[in-house]
Amino acid sequence: MTALTTASGIPVADHQNSLSAGPRGPLLLQGFHLIEKLQHFNRERIPERVVHAKGSGAHGTFTVTHDITRWTRAKLFAAVGKVTPTFVRFSTVGGERGSADTERDPRGFAIRFYTEDGNWDLAGNNTPMFFIKDPIKFPDFVHTQKRDPHTHLKSPTMMFDFWSRAPESLHQVTMLFSDRGTPDGYRHMDGFGSHTFSLIDAAGGRVWVKWHLKTQQGIRNLPAADAVRLAGEDPDYAQRDLFEAIARGDFPRWTVMVQIATDAELAAWERRTGWNPFDLTKVWPHSDFPRHPVGVLELNRNPDNYHAEVEQVAFSPANVVPGMGFSPDKMLQGRLFAYHDAQLYRVGTNHQQLPINAPKCPFHHHQRDGSMTLHNGGGALNYANVEASGTSPHGFGHGDPGWGSSGDAGRFDARGIEDDFTQAGNLFRLLPPAEKQNLFDNLAGPLSKCPRDIVERQLGHFDRADPAYGAGVRAALAKRGVAA
Ligand code: HEM
Repeated sequence: MTALTTASGIPVADHQNSLSAGPRGPLLLQGFHLIEKLQHFNRERIPERVVHAKGSGAHGTFTVTHDITRWTRAKLFAAVGKVTPTFVRFSTVGGERGSADTERDPRGFAIRFYTEDGNWDLAGNNTPMFFIKDPIKFPDFVHTQKRDPHTHLKSPTMMFDFWSRAPESLHQVTMLFSDRGTPDGYRHMDGFGSHTFSLIDAAGGRVWVKWHLKTQQGIRNLPAADAVRLAGEDPDYAQRDLFEAIARGDFPRWTVMVQIATDAELAAWERRTGWNPFDLTKVWPHSDFPRHPVGVLELNRNPDNYHAEVEQVAFSPANVVPGMGFSPDKMLQGRLFAYHDAQLYRVGTNHQQLPINAPKCPFHHHQRDGSMTLHNGGGALNYANVEASGTSPHGFGHGDPGWGSSGDAGRFDARGIEDDFTQAGNLFRLLPPAEKQNLFDNLAGPLSKCPRDIVERQLGHFDRADPAYGAGVRAALAKRGVAA
């Protein structure tokens, strides 16, 4: 092993005794090894993610099992059997970096595919829908999930105050308070890209898609009481479960699937159902849009260094590769801005140069300088020559047919116009009786701590989704001594 040195490589003679004037001190400023050591220690933390702060990661592979080349020219899908390296980070959403893994919360399921055309990031969740449909509400929504600024306590009142005034959240609230709100670790849950994205074929044709990942380990959830117990006994339960499974060679796998729809199919579906297919609070039912298998995601290597890989990884929904595209989903549009911006602050100007974030394919751009630059382009030109560069027939956006949009600029309030209740009711009606009862009890716990007007408003939403939903929560509240 190399002898101990300073970070500048200078051999250290004595790392146990500070340089001092005499045996009792004081210490000398020229004992720079001590000073450098304390200074670096003071700077060990980077800001935690503003959401999804607690997480676990692993390396793996994505292997194509089914041909989807008629819908996309993205190179990672070019041939059955093709393998692309991946990195995945799972997370909870509302808790801090040290919070318990078993809290009732959606789980993040972010996947990076290191393709030969750059990084594709699918930063999704374990739920196919979301609480809101407009990104302008996201900071307010997240604040209600975090701590009360005065008491510094989590607050059911803040949460249900928001949810009860934003009925579009009901679908996701129903999922969150069902058994799926407390998955048994990360291996036993499904993943969803959630938004509508697009795939673009070699001729420039577009289809709209939603990505799904089905766990091959089977769905397993923690009973609510076990989740609460584990939060105390083993707050890193999901990290332990994932790390130990991979360490013993029990590699978790997910079947990657895609729902596909043409413009005409979505238009017909919207006419029939009244639902905006780009509304993130809605799902595309499997019966209307079946899932096509595409490949298998396997996690098979634990990170060597948590900070360098799991903490510094920087996913962005804006990272899609040629053969893919976005959609008009307002939430997706908001996210296209938010992630890179957050990472410029959280990790730094040159975060894309870190090994976990750098593409594994050749790359060439004219960004230069900034703090902590690793690869600064050497002596190459630092500007694009307008005449010479032109557009590449292979680049992102080339052959993307775009999509039609129309209408006057304005702010459009969907409340009372769009149907926020039917899909929530459908999810409720799908649950077997025992799971319905769990849903009622899981909701009654925090609701019983809320002021009456909030409870009444929220019960009104349950009633509209399904009268049995409202009645069940009322009965569970009554058991807790809350008449409603
Ligand atoms: C407009 C709505 C949203 C905004 C503004 C937003 C913003 C953010 C930000 C700023 C981060 C931290 C990024 C970082 O520091 O690296 C983050 C993390 C994350 N978000 Fe969102 N988010 C939104 C909606 C969503 C939705 C709908 C999903 C799932 C479908 C999602 C999934 C995730 C995941 C999985 C992470 C953690 C990624 C990781 O493991 O590093 N977010 N979000």
